[in-house]
Amino acid sequence: MEPRRITDSVQWMGAVDWDRRLFDSLIPLPDGTSYNAYFIKASEKNVLLDSADPAMSTVLLSQLEGIDRIDYVISQHAEQDHSGSIPAVLSKYPAAKLISSVKAKSMLTDLLRIPEDRFVTVEDGETLSLGNQTLKFIYTPWVHWPETMATYLQEEKILFSCDFFGSHIATSDLFVTDEGRVYEAAKRYYAEIMMPFRNIIKKNLDKLSAFELDIIAPSHGSIHKRPAFILDAYHDWVRGNPKNMVVLPYVSMHASTKLMVDRLLNSLVNRGVRVEQFNLAVTDIGKLAMALVDAATIIVGTPTVLAGPHPLAAYAAFLTNALRPKAEFLSIIGSYGWGGKTVEVLAGMTPNLKVQVLDPVLCKGLPSATDYQALDNLADTIASLHKEKGFN
Ligand code: FEO
Repeated sequence: MEPRRITDSVQWMGAVDWDRRLFDSLIPLPDGTSYNAYFIKASEKNVLLDSADPAMSTVLLSQLEGIDRIDYVISQHAEQDHSGSIPAVLSKYPAAKLISSVKAKSMLTDLLRIPEDRFVTVEDGETLSLGNQTLKFIYTPWVHWPETMATYLQEEKILFSCDFFGSHIATSDLFVTDEGRVYEAAKRYYAEIMMPFRNIIKKNLDKLSAFELDIIAPSHGSIHKRPAFILDAYHDWVRGNPKNMVVLPYVSMHASTKLMVDRLLNSLVNRGVRVEQFNLAVTDIGKLAMALVDAATIIVGTPTVLAGPHPLAAYAAFLTNALRPKAEFLSIIGSYGWGGKTVEVLAGMTPNLKVQVLDPVLCKGLPSATDYQALDNLADTIASLHKEKGFN
C-alpha cells in the first residue's frame, strides 16, 4: 500500500500483512495485522516513527523513495515487528539519528546491533522541536515490554501509541470505521499481551488523561479518530469489576468430563451465570484469553491422564497463570479412571492467580447422581459468590 494522508504533516506508512496468521509462534491472528509507521514532515525536520516487521522492509523502503532526508527515526518499542526495519532505514539515511527511550537503547542494541553513535535517548516527558511541530515523549512501560514509549505530536493532538490501543487487523481502513470489529480485535490484543500488566497500564492511562487527544495512532490496526472509544474500553478492561461469568476451558477423552461440563454449564445458566466454554482440543487461545478479561470464575475441566491433568488442560492453566486475569474464584472438575494428582498439579501451576479455590468435583468414571449433585452445588456456590460481590 502507498503512503496515506492523516493530516497535512503526517502520513501513514508501513505494511498491511494480510496473510499473517500467527505471532510470536503463539498468538493466532485470524484477521492478519499491520505494522504502522508514521512519517512527519515539519518545517525543519523529517521524522519516521517506528518501522515495519523485517519481512516487509521492502514495502516501507519503497514508500520512502522520493524522501531524500530523514532527520530522526523514532523507535517507540524494541520488538522487531516495529523496529525490525530500522537498520535498513538507517542505512538508507546515514545522517539520521535514532531516538529511543533509555531502556530501549540497550534492547535495540542487543536485538538489532545498531551502532552506539546512531542513538539519541530521550527521557520521560522530554520534548523535541521539529520547527513548526513539537514531539513529546511519554514513557508507557509494560504495554507489554518495559521500554515502550508513546509520542505526542502537540500541535496536532495526535498520540502515537505503538502496541497500546492497537489491534491485529489487516484492513484498508486507515481510520476505524467498524468499532465493533475493532473492539473485538483490540480486546484480543489486550488480553494476549497486556492483561498481566494491567496495574501498570492503569498508571499509563492516568498519565495519558492529561493530554488532549484528537487522534490515537497505534502501530497495529486502524487509527482512532474517536479516542474515547478505545480509552473507555481499556478503562473497563483494566479497572472494571469481573463480570457474572464463568470461563470453562475443558478437555475430554471419553466424554465423562464433557458430561460434567455440560451439567455445570446448564446449572450455572439456570442460576443466571453466563458461561464461556472452550474445548481445548480445538479452541483459539486468543478467544480464551479474551474471555479471561471479564470472567469472575475459572473452572478447568480435565480428565486425569498419566496421573495428572490432560496436557491441554495443563497448557491452559500455564497460559492463564501467565495472563494473570482478574478472576476471583477457581475450581477444577473432571473424571479419573483410577487416581492421580490432577488437582495438586494444576494448583501448583497457577501461583499467580489471586483466587479463592472452590472445592473441586472429581468423579471416578462416568458421573453419578451424586457427582451431578456436587456440580449443582458448585454452581450454587458460584452464583452466590458472584451475587455477594455484586458482579453483573
Ligand atoms: Fe507489536 Fe510488542 O510489538
